[in-house]
Amino acid sequence: MELIILPTADDVARVAADRIAGALRKKPHGVLGLATGSSPLAIYRELARQVESDLLDLSGVSGFALDEYVGIPETNEQSYAAVIAREVTGPLRMDPELVHVPNGRADDLSAACDDYEKEMAACGGVDVQILGIGGNGHIGFNEPGSSFASRTRHKVLAPQTRADNARFFDSPADVPTQCLTQGIGTILEAAELVLVAQGEAKASAVAAAVEGPLTSMCPASALQLHRRATVIVDEAAAALLKLSDYYSLAFEVSQS
Ligand code: GLP
Repeated sequence: MELIILPTADDVARVAADRIAGALRKKPHGVLGLATGSSPLAIYRELARQVESDLLDLSGVSGFALDEYVGIPETNEQSYAAVIAREVTGPLRMDPELVHVPNGRADDLSAACDDYEKEMAACGGVDVQILGIGGNGHIGFNEPGSSFASRTRHKVLAPQTRADNARFFDSPADVPTQCLTQGIGTILEAAELVLVAQGEAKASAVAAAVEGPLTSMCPASALQLHRRATVIVDEAAAALLKLSDYYSLAFEVSQS
């Protein structure tokens, strides 16, 4: 795992966007794995800036979102289908036909999950997957206890996740209780993973993911099993890392 510690959240977005843009310039018909939540928003803004400046063309790139709520319509502006359309597909000038979100409104949720896996496979799998991390160490909506072998499936959200996401809704009671999410096994199949975290509220989850044991209690610790995983954090999110001097040295050498 490569760990990059940068002074500010803006630096995190810029460096992460450059990695992602670099991977997709080499593969104009590649597949981008999309995360929701607040962590990747500045990455999307930076990618949009590159697209507007004609430095990047994502019109042939497919997108697959990590997860979706169950129990709210697509027209709810907090559904991930709506968030991805608003924050990603439009600003990044992606083709809406090529951007996929799990169908949390399907009558048969289990079939919708299986179909999602098949669609991803038909596109050749994800080339670069953007990830945030929950305060409890979740990736996608894989809550603590999720199997590292899990696939896209129907899950119940942890109370902490519902509380963390209440800020996006009018009232805490409006936060859905269930979701569909790519599994940890699904996420680990992406060719490259880029996880970003900003702020002190993420410091303990980042330390557990990067330096803690491999454990389903911290789903993001599964990144330790991946050949090409990069974790890009600001200094506040890096505050509890024991080896931060080493990571900074390694990054410095890689840039020289
Ligand atoms: C959300 C999403 C995750 C995201 C995480 C952190 O609920 N399902 O994909 O990475 O929780 O969210 P945020 O970036 O808003 O802190």
